[in-house]
Amino acid sequence: MEVEHKFSHKHILGLEQLSPADIDFLLRSAASFKEISTRQIKKVPALRGRTVINLFFEPSTRTRLSFEVAAKRMSADTFNISASTSSLKKGETLIDTALNLAAMKPDIIIIRHSHSGSPGLLAKHTKASIINAGDGTHEHPSQGLLDMMTVLEKKGHIEGLKIAIIGDIAHSRVAHSNIIGFTKMGASVSVSGPATLLPRGIDHLGATVCSSVDEAVEGADVVMALRIQTERQKDPFIPSLREYAAFFGINKRVISLAKPDAIIMHPGPMNRGVELDPELADGPHSVILDQVTNGVAMRMALLYAIMGGGEG
Ligand code: CP
Repeated sequence: MEVEHKFSHKHILGLEQLSPADIDFLLRSAASFKEISTRQIKKVPALRGRTVINLFFEPSTRTRLSFEVAAKRMSADTFNISASTSSLKKGETLIDTALNLAAMKPDIIIIRHSHSGSPGLLAKHTKASIINAGDGTHEHPSQGLLDMMTVLEKKGHIEGLKIAIIGDIAHSRVAHSNIIGFTKMGASVSVSGPATLLPRGIDHLGATVCSSVDEAVEGADVVMALRIQTERQKDPFIPSLREYAAFFGINKRVISLAKPDAIIMHPGPMNRGVELDPELADGPHSVILDQVTNGVAMRMALLYAIMGGGEG
């Protein structure tokens, strides 16, 4: 590993805590780790003897698997726990669960939880390094980092780009991490969506709130559609998915307002035909599966960095 930077974070709770130099280090490390996944033997000994626990209390396909793939490719021992098979079902608290896991001396616990702040709570109660794999509506730092990695790879730079993020901003931890990360790295972020899904104060994170999707996408280098998170909406925030698709979906007309070489992103899982026209999702400007590929490399970089790999 030739990328030098003193990465001094024990936990990855959010991009809020990382400096531009930390983010730059992780982007460069991940680009270097990406090559490992193209080898015939996709394994390096960097985390041999380390124990990684995946503690997921919400469904996940990409994040959970890519953290596991990343840890295994670095020779760590990995274990998975989900809410449905853990003793939380029997009434055990999150802190008691964490204390019991900590008693088995893991090095890293990766947690996804519906409550914002749960990874921080775990960090206070265990000696393990904690990685936030998505906490409520707060942050999803590894997604923000892999999104930045994908943009950097496709555009060659982040500074000066216009990033348009469209959709359910209120419930999206992905949007929050992306707004924080991209603005820290010198990009401008424009957001748009139904008024009921644009939280007050989002501009304090550095985003420009636009009154229409067209205004947000106009001249954008990157157009990111977000999933409508119906599971976090006790009462409907939009009249129907059909109306959402008609007024806020990214389609060919909307994308024609962006730069001709604009890339199209979606963190997944995607409601096909709602947030994004399926032809665009599968078209030449889509980098959705590149985001997933880069997720493994970025998570390798994160695991390595918090285990001391940032010493240079
Ligand atoms: N992007 C993302 O967090 O996907 P999963 O919910 O499948 O992990």
